Amino acid sequence: MEIDRRTFVAAAAAGLTLAAKPALAAKPSSFPKDFIWGAATAGHQVEGNNLNADCWLLENIKPTVYADPSGDSANSFELWRRDLDLVTSLGLNSYRFSLEWARIEPEAGQFSIAMLDHYKAMIEGCRALGLRPIVTFNHFTTPIWFAARGGWMNPDAPQLFARFCDKAARHLAAGIDHATTLNEPNLAGVLQFLLPGGLLEADKAMAAAAAAKLGVPVFLAGNALYQPEPAKVQANLQAGHTAGKAAIKAVRGDLPVGVSLAMLDDQEAEPGSLRDAMREKFYNAWLRLARADDFVGVQNYERSLWGKQGKLDPPASARRNMMGAEVYPPSLAGAVRYAYEVAKVPVIVTEHGVGTDDDTLRAWLIPEALTHLKAAMDDGVPVKGYCHWSLIDNFEWVFGYKIHFGLHTLDRQTFERRAKPSALVYRDYIRSHTAGA
Ligand code: BGC
Repeated sequence: MEIDRRTFVAAAAAGLTLAAKPALAAKPSSFPKDFIWGAATAGHQVEGNNLNADCWLLENIKPTVYADPSGDSANSFELWRRDLDLVTSLGLNSYRFSLEWARIEPEAGQFSIAMLDHYKAMIEGCRALGLRPIVTFNHFTTPIWFAARGGWMNPDAPQLFARFCDKAARHLAAGIDHATTLNEPNLAGVLQFLLPGGLLEADKAMAAAAAAKLGVPVFLAGNALYQPEPAKVQANLQAGHTAGKAAIKAVRGDLPVGVSLAMLDDQEAEPGSLRDAMREKFYNAWLRLARADDFVGVQNYERSLWGKQGKLDPPASARRNMMGAEVYPPSLAGAVRYAYEVAKVPVIVTEHGVGTDDDTLRAWLIPEALTHLKAAMDDGVPVKGYCHWSLIDNFEWVFGYKIHFGLHTLDRQTFERRAKPSALVYRDYIRSHTAGA
């Protein structure tokens, strides 16, 4: 979803061009032996046939803003063992994936033991291969019944989410290495003032069609672009994180729990820029909330250059992703440094990557970004791990299957996965940059 928001932020930007800042001096030291090296996916984006999810309904309704329906996706619901083998073949020690709330609780209050067992098998499958499972309890998609009750706008939403976290934790917490409650809740409804009106109208029309189909006044999906009451949604998501974390902790107090935030590397391009105001708007409430967590998950794909009037264009020389946004390797370290400055808890990079068909871009990005990340660690920022988004090409929300973030390609007919050259670059970087490896 975020590429969408990010791209429209870029589209709304003013037209100034700046010279690139010089790269940070990289320090050649090694990552610690216990560093978490992972790759990430999310249930709805890889599993396929997630029939009870809000997104499935919206992908298949008329009108829809989705370029493709998710359909079988990578069929990872069946083929997750193959995915774990991909993770181990890259020499990684961790896999980040998410639970599908819509499978586990397909009707309100009805919990599926079979589906909980499915995720338990994945967690145990990770353990058997020596992989540390990082489990996202909710990655955007919510059950249809939840969206039909107003989604995150519903005053009961935090408690409904906490009930789900409780059930899931009772079944699964024992094997989890790190848990995150929500994925990128900080941007829900926050950027819509920057989105092109046409897209918001289309999103609204799609949600209205879903509401009409179900005979409810409001259908609000977990990743809706248009949020009628953004402040309410933000407050409920924050309460949901706190209640969800408490539910997980009540089951297993020693399980590290955090939240994953979408963070750009916001840079001040001129004195008096909007940078600090934007940080306040997009992240600070969540980063302050994260002070009470065990860690904060940072997800970075870009930087933003802020001027006095708004966001500025990237330098003309910038390398760009498939959506035309700048790919700037030091942005990861920049976002991580800021997250730590405010949250003051250890950081795990739960996502970082690039949507591109030019795999040389990914092969360039990974080592560069990691070297800058290590420099931040050498400066004292406690970073515990890095998960690349994504393990395989997958369903990229409104863009369907057109944007590719994977370390592996996906054949949508045979479900064959194949390592891209950048996957081997990632593997080799880890080998040569981990202490005692
Ligand atoms: C989201 C993923 C998404 C990725 C690339 C992140 O914002 O968590 O679901 O696929 O960015 O856009």
